[in-house]
Amino acid sequence: MFLIMGIIWLSMKIVSGSSSLMLSTRLSEVTGFQMVHREIKRFPDGECYVRIHENLDNQEVILIQNTHPDWNIIEYLLLVDAIRQYNVKRLITVVPYFGYGRQDKRFNEGEPISAKIMAEHLSENVDKIITINLHNSEIIKWFKTEAIEIKAEIELAKYFEKFKPDLIISPDKGSIERAKFISGILGIPFHSFQKRRIDSERVEIETGDIDVKNKTVAIVDDVISTGGTIATAAALLKSKGASKVIVGCVHGLFVGNALQKMQMNVDILFSTDTVENEKSLVTVSHLISEYLK
Ligand code: R5P
Repeated sequence: MFLIMGIIWLSMKIVSGSSSLMLSTRLSEVTGFQMVHREIKRFPDGECYVRIHENLDNQEVILIQNTHPDWNIIEYLLLVDAIRQYNVKRLITVVPYFGYGRQDKRFNEGEPISAKIMAEHLSENVDKIITINLHNSEIIKWFKTEAIEIKAEIELAKYFEKFKPDLIISPDKGSIERAKFISGILGIPFHSFQKRRIDSERVEIETGDIDVKNKTVAIVDDVISTGGTIATAAALLKSKGASKVIVGCVHGLFVGNALQKMQMNVDILFSTDTVENEKSLVTVSHLISEYLK
């Protein structure tokens, strides 16, 4: 057991999937848990190979691995099996970004409910799952094992605070509660835009009546994917005279040329380390550690 500043953690071992090395290392630093020596590589035909180079008998083990893009799902499943060959006391998986969360219903006849299928399969042979900001919190009910969703807004709020924004914007109705929560912490007003998606990359946004002249404006979203939403919202804010646009999101997927698309009108961009990239400036490791005590 570790006793750090009066907080007790059981001793656990961390297995990092290749998607989550930064977060695993940060969690190891916060908790003092050791990282397990593991090997992950690809065969020439692209198939994944994993191996645990440490005996994990009688250990409590945490596996940290995303399920996006698809190849990370395979790696997750293989790592669970590799860990399970040992007589582990408990296996907790942390899925920092739960891929397929946006396909959370049958939008059209003939479609799968992808989020449900994913939740069910990720639950197999796992004692507990911890995930961060599901696209829809209702997804939690589809896991077949104990599952917890952690909300990262508090960490985003702390980071936004550095830039002293005058107001915070939700780019669509999906982030209203998030923006409201952060506005409460920072003591600033919030406003929501109305968004209509044209296609997977383009959106139309109605700003409503809003005065942002010479103001520092923050925008918060759960996911940034193609960057279409943020690029459009930021351009509108700048055209209305905003002096600075600060954008923070939980999951920064930044697919394709998302970063270039946003850079013209976004002054500062950050995400958490649920998805790892150059913008992962905020860590969720402290939040996760709270659930491991
Ligand atoms: C929408 O429901 C989400 O909250 C995000 O606004 C959306 O996923 C962002 O996608 P993109 O970056 O492709 O506009």
